[in-house]
Amino acid sequence: VSLKKLFGRSSRKAPPLQVEEATSPQVSKEATTENGFSHKEISPLSSPVGDTSQVTNQAMIIAIASQKGGSTKTTTTINLGAALAEYGKSVLLVDMDPQGHLAEGFGIEADSLDRDMSLVLSDKVSLLETIQNVRPKLDLAPTNIRLSQQEITLFFSFRREDRLRSVLRPMKGHYDIILIDCPPSLGLLTVNALSSAHQVLIPMPCEFYAMLGVRILLDTVDNIRAKSDQGLGVLGILFTRYTGTKYAQEVVERVKAELAGNIRIFEPMVNEEESFKEASGAGKTILEYAPDTEGAEAYRCLAKEVISESERENT
Ligand SMILES: Nc1ncnc2c1ncn2[C@@H]1O[C@H](COP(=O)(O)OP(=O)(O)OP(=O)(O)O)[C@@H](O)[C@H]1O
Ligand SMILES: [Mg+2]
Repeated sequence: VSLKKLFGRSSRKAPPLQVEEATSPQVSKEATTENGFSHKEISPLSSPVGDTSQVTNQAMIIAIASQKGGSTKTTTTINLGAALAEYGKSVLLVDMDPQGHLAEGFGIEADSLDRDMSLVLSDKVSLLETIQNVRPKLDLAPTNIRLSQQEITLFFSFRREDRLRSVLRPMKGHYDIILIDCPPSLGLLTVNALSSAHQVLIPMPCEFYAMLGVRILLDTVDNIRAKSDQGLGVLGILFTRYTGTKYAQEVVERVKAELAGNIRIFEPMVNEEESFKEASGAGKTILEYAPDTEGAEAYRCLAKEVISESERENT
């Protein structure tokens, strides 16, 4: 497959997003209560939502997206978030993947959540009631399998592609950076994430199949940018799971040759390291589990770049 064909981008050629207007009303608050969610169960957060004392600007919102399964979206969301928090930034992680891995990555059992993003997107609870403080300066809006059902309901909702955007709007002043973990598809949940975001970050394992999805993702970004007033940009590509083999080197070289002039490729790459799997199994970030590894350092470097970018955006 020619990479020119893969990456030769033209926003004009891309088909428009099939966004329809409402075909059924949104779930009402009254119906919500009848649907069985007890508001009495909601207690005030035990920890404050973020440490907003340092936050003076509007949060930069970054969607971590790739429709390829297992392309390190969740790992990147967790560890970039942890590194940003380590540098003193106030960070919110939002899980838009019904697999609920973001919660699991912090040792929280996703299936046991009584409040999650599916209830937020259906107006049953507020985002604030769903957010948990998971580490200093690091908050999480978790989700679980309920979100896959909610995606179907969302499909019939008014302004279905903008639900997350309106939910996040009031939180922008509370955080420096909001990271959204996307599911491995370009369905409505990812479209909601991209429509809310200022930037998209694309993690890419150094393998051929991971390259194939990038063109389609970039076309989707073009489509959403054309429809939104938010000015969605591509923050860049982060190569991950780099093994240093000839094959991995070739993948990197080919993608760089095609995209480097147009799209930023972050350095350093994240190496293939067993400690990432062990860290996620232990419910820890790589900065906690193996802080001195090259992998941890790569995410710190990425965080520094993201901080520079957010400061540029805010000036
Ligand atoms: N640098 C790395 N080295 C080795 N393993 C890694 C690395 N980064 C992530 N992994 C592992 O790869 C697997 C997939 O990562 P992850 O769950 O982050 O991908 P994903 O894109 O979120 O997947 P999905 O599409 O299912 O949401 C996990 O087991 C994770 O621990
Ligand atoms: Mg994931």
